[in-house]
Order: sequence, then C-alpha cells, then structure tokens
Amino acid sequence: MFRLLSRNRGITSITQQFARSAIPKSQTVNSTALTTLRMFSGTAANLHGHVHKPKPGEELKVTFISKDGLLKTFEVAAGDNLLDIAQANNLDMEGACGGSCACSTCHVIVDPEYYDEIPEPDDDENDMLDLAFGLTETSRLGCQVIMTKELDGLRVALPAMTRNLQSKDFS
Ligand code: FES
Repeated sequence: MFRLLSRNRGITSITQQFARSAIPKSQTVNSTALTTLRMFSGTAANLHGHVHKPKPGEELKVTFISKDGLLKTFEVAAGDNLLDIAQANNLDMEGACGGSCACSTCHVIVDPEYYDEIPEPDDDENDMLDLAFGLTETSRLGCQVIMTKELDGLRVALPAMTRNLQSKDFS
C-alpha cells in the first residue's frame, strides 16, 4: 500500500512540503536529513474493519440497532468481532483503541436473549465497561464479542452516547 501511495504525486509532494517545513530555515538541509524523516501512509476506507466474507451456507446474521432505533442486519463470518463488523458497514462505533480493550467506545447493549451465549467478559473488559456511558446488565465491548454459530441472529443496540471525543455526541 505504501508503495502505491508514494507513487501518487499529490501525496508525495505534500509529504515533501511537510518535510521541508519541519526543518528550521537556520539549519543547513542535507539530503540525509530529508530521507530519514518518516513518510505518512494510509489505507482506503473500504480496507478498514478486517472482516471476512462468509462462506456460502455459513453466513451468520447480526442486527445492530442504531441510536435512532433503525435496525440494520448483516450477514457475517464466524470469527469476526462486532467492532470490525460495525466499522466495515459504516455504523457509528468509534473503537478508539482499535480493539485492544483499552477504551469503551465500542460499547454495545446485547439482547438478553443472546447474552448468555457470549463467553464471560474478562477483567480487562469489565474494567473498561465500568467507564462506559449508560452501562446495562447486558453491556459488552463490541471488540470483544466474536461471532460464533451460537450467536447467529444476535441483536445489539448502540448506546445513545459513548465516552469519547466526538463533538456530535454532545449536540
Ligand atoms: S475498541 Fe476500545 S475497547 Fe473496544
């Protein structure tokens, strides 16, 4: 991916401009200094989420209920977690720590009918859940809920707010 981006003239020229502006004018610029600066890279939005395509006949269904009460159902593969599924489908789940169980921005409220089918949360998840806004009896962190055959048909609701830095949560 980096090789592709570095071929893009627009991105290269922005990076080079940044590299030049990061060095004070009083210093002599030599070519070694410029080549040791790290370049920016990125991935296309459709590559985020890391979800797998379910094999034919092995699709599992999961339904997300948005803050507005809208239901969205997806066919997913076993092994994918709810954070990745939500992000791959552009749902409003931030996942600030990238799924490393170090925030509570992937908080979901699990339909009680399915709650006992999910393995118990570990201590790290419980610690983070304590920080979640609007904690309920069936709250879980989306990044820790992995789809299995037992969870086929799972329904989860997104909480009205999460504790994060998105200003839209406060409007
Ligand atoms: S994304 Fe941070 S705990 Fe799930």
